[in-house]
Amino acid sequence: MRVLITGGTGFLGRALAARLQEAGYEVIVLSRRPEQARLPPGVQATRWDGRTATGWAHLADGAFALINLAGESIGQRWTAATKQRIRESRLNAGRAVVEAIAAARTKPQVLLQASAVGYYGPRGDERLTEEDPPGNDFLARLAVDWEASTQPVEAMGVRRVILRTGLVLERDGGALARLLLPFRLFVGGPLGNGRQGWSWIHRADWVEAVKFLMERPDARGPYNLTAPQPVSNAEFSRILGRVLGRPSWLPVPAIALRLVFGEGADFLLTGQFVLPQRLLKAGFTFRYPDLESALRAILG
Ligand SMILES: NC(=O)c1ccc[n+]([C@@H]2O[C@H](COP(=O)([O-])OP(=O)(O)OC[C@H]3O[C@@H](n4cnc5c(N)ncnc54)[C@H](OP(=O)(O)O)[C@@H]3O)[C@@H](O)[C@H]2O)c1
Repeated sequence: MRVLITGGTGFLGRALAARLQEAGYEVIVLSRRPEQARLPPGVQATRWDGRTATGWAHLADGAFALINLAGESIGQRWTAATKQRIRESRLNAGRAVVEAIAAARTKPQVLLQASAVGYYGPRGDERLTEEDPPGNDFLARLAVDWEASTQPVEAMGVRRVILRTGLVLERDGGALARLLLPFRLFVGGPLGNGRQGWSWIHRADWVEAVKFLMERPDARGPYNLTAPQPVSNAEFSRILGRVLGRPSWLPVPAIALRLVFGEGADFLLTGQFVLPQRLLKAGFTFRYPDLESALRAILG
């Protein structure tokens, strides 16, 4: 059974591709530079332009699943130009996926559409589930439009699952890889006032959750892919410091983050406490439900 993964060369896609390939799926990753892709053994890469179905639509015909992860990284300094690329890369990928599925004679059974907990916007210490409405800042509006970009496939009879993903943790990328250096240099600590919610998930649990939702014929709509115990950023820093055996009291002032990331610092300075209500209801079991066990597994 064939599974296509757009943006499958990245931090999440590579791990997911490896797991699905190991489980017996034929995994094909769509990349703008397939010749440069470093992929797990057995996983193939095909070129796409991230905007159209040209040259790859035939692969969607008869595929079991399509997983749409592609998008320009948000972990960079935001300027008007980067914000536009962050947004357009996701909306263009969504359009291309719809175009490919529309052209397929035998439609894929399921489309898994990436999204993020930024959907809910900055929300203080409220506990949020899939039933909560979206926020209204740049990331929230982006998530709303990104989720909507592939909605037309539902009218084509394709089951669609939205992956509202939290901060994914593993040592070879994502937010944790960036946080490790200051902690190792004894200058780790909370970001801003540290009260913002950090809804995290170990990458191994993220991968299993995506596979679980892909394989369950009754799974559809939004699912929060976050561990059941979100923490504040201050708590995250404390636990990371403890696991690394390093101090964690040196706060990083909001102004310093704004100098480096511009408006993108909001991503680190605001947040939300998100609960995986629908995953738990569906019977998914987290291997790493609490942050300390997740970080100890990752950092040895
Ligand atoms: N990591 C997290 O904690 C996290 C949390 C929530 C949501 N997400 C979302 O999940 C998705 C995957 O995350 P990730 O951490 O694996 O990201 P990543 O490592 O940055 O990988 C994203 C992939 O998207 C492709 N891409 C980048 N810019 C593109 C563009 N302009 N047009 C088309 N494709 C482009 C790239 O593939 P090629 O260069 O091979 O084309 C890249 O490998 C992203 O959309 C991200 O926003 C991630």
